[in-house]
Amino acid sequence: MLPDAKQFILAPSILAADFSVLGKQIRATEKAGAPYLHIDVCDGVFVPSISFGMPVIDTIRPVSEQFFDVHLMITEPEKYIKEFAALGADGITFHIEATEDPKAVIDLIHQCGKRAGISLKPGTPIESVYPYLPHLELVLVMSVEPGFGGQRFMDEAYDRIKQLRDYMDANARNVILEVDGGIDRWNVKKVLKAGANAIVSGSSIFRKGSIKRNVKRFYKAAAAVEAKTNEANNSVLY
Ligand code: DX5
Ligand code: ZN
Repeated sequence: MLPDAKQFILAPSILAADFSVLGKQIRATEKAGAPYLHIDVCDGVFVPSISFGMPVIDTIRPVSEQFFDVHLMITEPEKYIKEFAALGADGITFHIEATEDPKAVIDLIHQCGKRAGISLKPGTPIESVYPYLPHLELVLVMSVEPGFGGQRFMDEAYDRIKQLRDYMDANARNVILEVDGGIDRWNVKKVLKAGANAIVSGSSIFRKGSIKRNVKRFYKAAAAVEAKTNEANNSVLY
């Protein structure tokens, strides 16, 4: 078991994919065993970049049975929840900094029959999500400033992940703790040890080598963390 006693989830981020062969690459991540597909929607207002929107999600929905993990980096997410839900998002994560009323957005996502997530930028206090945890299925801790793939992991994120994991354990909150930005097959171990159980990765999946091998490497790293944790737990028991 991982430290949080939850299964490891890999969510490849298509922001780093080759869009000329997007369907093929998505299928490769699914075949390699990634259960989630991370879909980054950037509006050029909440973040400086513009990525893609509804037509892309609509087009790729029939390609894969993965859980569509839609990460909205947009202002006023409440305006678009219904549309993303109708297009086949399974989980919708919005930024706590992007709305006046996070609880209303969570309720809207649930009314659409989807799983709700809140994301925090690196500078937003972890405590700001505490009041919403009883209502959420996922929290997404950003380990880079949102908006662009290929950035360097910010080391400050380790303490933030641990803080959230400790709080959730102490308060019996069964919420997925996902981390996004600059994660590769080396630092993923430390991210998992800090308490994450879901990992977003773009560049390390799509930008070098084979997608299949890259996905497997993440699973191998997660299995190594799990084995170490079991070892440590056993040595406490005996
Ligand atoms: C950043 C996005 C991330 C990004 C991750 O704004 O939310 O999902 O695509 O990509 P890498 O793994 O390249 O940092
Ligand atoms: Zn993302």
